[in-house]
Amino acid sequence: MRRLYLAFLRGVSANKISRTGVVLTTTAFFLFISFEALRLSGMLHNAYVGLISYLGIPIIFVIGLALIPFGWWRSTKLTGRPFWDLFSREFSPEDITARRVGARVIRVTALLTLANFIFLGAVSSRTLHFMDEPHFCGTACHQVMDPEWTTYQQSPHAEVKCVECHVGEGLDALVNSKLNGAWQVISATFELYEKPIPTPVHTLRPARETCEECHWPQKFHGNTARSWTTFRQDSLNTPRYSTLLMKTGSGGVGKPTGSHWHIAEENTVRYASIDDERETMIWVEVKQDDGSWKRYMNTSIDGEEESGDEIVRVMDCVDCHNRATHIYEEPEKALDERMERGMISRDLPYIKKRALGALLGSYPDKPTALEQIDLHIRNFYQQEYPELLPEMADEIDEAVAVTQAIYDRNIHPEMSIDWGAYPSHLGHEQGPGCFRCHDFSMESKDGDFIPMDCDLCHTIIADEDREPPTFLDL
Ligand code: HEC
Ligand code: HEC
Ligand code: HEC
Ligand code: HEC
Ligand code: HEC
Repeated sequence: MRRLYLAFLRGVSANKISRTGVVLTTTAFFLFISFEALRLSGMLHNAYVGLISYLGIPIIFVIGLALIPFGWWRSTKLTGRPFWDLFSREFSPEDITARRVGARVIRVTALLTLANFIFLGAVSSRTLHFMDEPHFCGTACHQVMDPEWTTYQQSPHAEVKCVECHVGEGLDALVNSKLNGAWQVISATFELYEKPIPTPVHTLRPARETCEECHWPQKFHGNTARSWTTFRQDSLNTPRYSTLLMKTGSGGVGKPTGSHWHIAEENTVRYASIDDERETMIWVEVKQDDGSWKRYMNTSIDGEEESGDEIVRVMDCVDCHNRATHIYEEPEKALDERMERGMISRDLPYIKKRALGALLGSYPDKPTALEQIDLHIRNFYQQEYPELLPEMADEIDEAVAVTQAIYDRNIHPEMSIDWGAYPSHLGHEQGPGCFRCHDFSMESKDGDFIPMDCDLCHTIIADEDREPPTFLDL
């Protein structure tokens, strides 16, 4: 028996190309099995190994498989001798007659082909599954996705897979995303991508299919109070307290309206922007009850900017929540928040001012930045407050570590991400945000404006008050 199988193998590999194919396929098969065994035993679990075992090895396997018939096709073409002649040379004449090699060969080939299909099927399903894992998307290209991976892991959506927002449903989207992914591997390898990675993301699934799977627009009602503390840059880090009552309702019969009015079932808002950035609007339209559109024109831009290739888009969640997952902080807000939570001691004189100065310095790379932040804070206390050093050493250490962590989370020099690289549209602090449309330059032909009074979207209950909010305020 063994003799026959060996003869079969030798026969299949009778030409150089097919032999290479047999070697590649067999090696890939055993490599895959060993990697899988190591991975299941928990010894291997990084994205690179995944990339090799779920992408590299299967590709080699398929190439090897394809080389076998290709080698045969070429050798019959070159030598003019049919496959069977060359193949059967490896068997002894008595085998051929006595054991009906022909039938066996067909059976073995059929079995092997079936086995290959099953193997490939299993591998591709593992591969697809693996590539859907946030860990793969977030770490396979290392520095490229590092900022998105970092912000993702600390976001309210850390449990939502990247593909749930970034890849649509269905075969179309799957194929698209894999083609796109193949291009990304090439562009990551040869550093062809833009830094920072540009937004908006065109392959993002429509918000109706993603966000609304988990958040229902009809559920938005009422108001939400948002309170926060800011610290002044004086020696006492004096706190100030603010409270906004955010109007987040989506309206409907007898219900209050607010920011979610735009995406309520019964309303449609669409706009054209001068370019892809969606920062400057040309016009904004609201669908009226009779099905017509009421148009507000941007009176502050001249006709020239209307190039005709404007982008028209129906407003959805991401026009406001563009930072739903990849949330970048502002330096001052980040410090206020850490101080409010007690992670940086307010008892350190001027700590807000020093830490902010440290964060805003410009540094050539991250290691230098972290080192300089440390020096910037520590030297100050050594020179100005030496008497504090013994008793507040721990607080200083903590303040340094927390400030460094803020920098590390938000700034990514290798991807050209500095403060403000990805402004949030939710509000009007980090950029025009809501004021892209809510602005007196947006005027209808009847002379109406898109409203922008300070009470439209929120009620300001306290603006940098000296006293913290009381229960009655809320
Ligand atoms: C809850 C939905 C959601 C999840 C989950 C998600 N993203 Fe995003 N992602 C977004 C949105 C929204 C944008 C910004 C889109 C825009 O402005 O057009 C974005 C933008 C990006 C960008 C462009 C750069 C930027 O910050 O704007 C990259 C790259 C990216 N995401 C990668 C990832 C990776 C990798 C993961 C998983 C580790 C992931 N995303 C998970 C919603 C999501
Ligand atoms: C798979 C489910 C899922 C999807 C898809 C999803 N979210 Fe969420 N979202 C959540 C969960 C869970 C939370 C956390 C709720 C909490 O902490 O109270 C959350 C929280 C939020 C918050 C509140 C954050 C905060 O600070 O309180 C916003 C805003 C939000 N999501 C917007 C979006 C947007 C915009 C999209 C689409 C780009 C989206 N979500 C897609 C599940 C999802
Ligand atoms: C016109 C801008 C805008 C649009 C469009 C929008 N939101 Fe919001 N959303 C807001 C604002 C403003 C808040 C309040 C933020 C705050 O409290 O700081 C908010 C709050 C939220 C919250 C926090 C929970 C709450 O009710 O306060 C969730 C979740 C959320 N939005 C999801 C969505 C989803 C999902 C969509 C799309 C179906 C969407 N939003 C569309 C502006 C918008
Ligand atoms: C793409 C343009 C656009 C953006 C961006 C935008 N809005 Fe609007 N918004 C409109 C239009 C148009 C109206 C309706 C004007 C009218 O009454 O005809 C509106 C109406 C509103 C209303 C009043 C709803 C009602 O009738 O009671 C609120 C509240 C509101 N927006 C909040 C926000 C907030 C908060 C943001 C930013 C997070 C925002 N909008 C961003 C276009 C926009
Ligand atoms: C079209 C809606 C809209 C209008 C009009 C508007 N705001 Fe806001 N504003 C917002 C939203 C949304 C936020 C909250 C952003 C967030 O959740 O971080 C905000 C946040 C703020 C904050 C807090 C900023 C911070 O530090 O977080 C202040 C203060 C503020 N608005 C003042 C004003 C004043 C004053 C006006 C009138 C000139 C005004 N707003 C008009 C939507 C609006």
